Amino acid sequence: MLELDPQTKYLAVLGSPIKQTLSPLIQNHWFKQNKMNCAYLALEVASKDLKVAVEALRAFNFVGFNLTVPLKTEVLPYLNFIDKAAKTIGGVNTVAVRDGKLYGYNTDYLGLDADLKSKNILAKGKNVFIYGAGGAARSVIYVCRKQGAKNIFIANRTYKKAANLANKFHIQAIDRNETERYLESSDIIFNASSCGLNTADFLPFDINQIKKTAFIYDLICLPRTPFVRLAKKRHLKFDTGEGMLVYQGAEAFKIWFGILPDIKGAKKLIKVKQGPSLAGVV
Ligand code: ATR
Repeated sequence: MLELDPQTKYLAVLGSPIKQTLSPLIQNHWFKQNKMNCAYLALEVASKDLKVAVEALRAFNFVGFNLTVPLKTEVLPYLNFIDKAAKTIGGVNTVAVRDGKLYGYNTDYLGLDADLKSKNILAKGKNVFIYGAGGAARSVIYVCRKQGAKNIFIANRTYKKAANLANKFHIQAIDRNETERYLESSDIIFNASSCGLNTADFLPFDINQIKKTAFIYDLICLPRTPFVRLAKKRHLKFDTGEGMLVYQGAEAFKIWFGILPDIKGAKKLIKVKQGPSLAGVV
């Protein structure tokens, strides 16, 4: 247990549902490691209560907070300042409270970029297929564009949302009937949807056409999503979101405290502690 006293500084992650989050585990580990009198909480906050919650954290002088599903876009109207990348992406996952003002950043894209680079996977010159069209997909698009992807295809359960994102980011929305054709020419396939969070979820497309050399990256931190099962079955290279989670947390830590914490240790900690009950989305 953390020892709290009147000097303890507080941080938190807000979202709904929140019980799956791994962020307190990581951030509190870094506080302990750096002998900081800080505590990081997981707070269940429904969309309708976000305004009040954000105002309360500001009033309580929290150092900062993170936002997860579904609050990354919803928080935007309540912030005093939004960093340029976060504005383009259209989502904030990290807020710093400075002199009573709220500064919003996006470290998800930094986390994904760092994780891909650490694994030597670069979108430069590649065809990228993204499944999902919510907040997470926006960060994936941003990173792939920044890395110089040749083509970015986006598909989603609800086509209209993919079409909207395609329009905003000037990429190509793929209709359900065309999915297999585009998968066939894709080098990196991202699952940026929530498909796989529930055990009953099934793979949203036919997998036979995927290249042998394709890389599957599932942003969900779970060992047995339909995407991971597909990768294993077809002997494809794959990865899940733990690396991105640690890197985005480290970048948030840096925004709050000005130092980059220990990445390696946090990755190990997640591996050891992670069981089905702890799995979650970034
Ligand atoms: P996040 O911020 O994590 O991206 P989100 O904005 O709520 O969360 O987006 C969730 C994405 O996962 C959406 O693209 C959603 O598809 P819809 O637009 O059709 O709702 C997708 N999604 C959620 N559950 C899914 C499932 N079981 N199968 C396929 N896609 C799913």
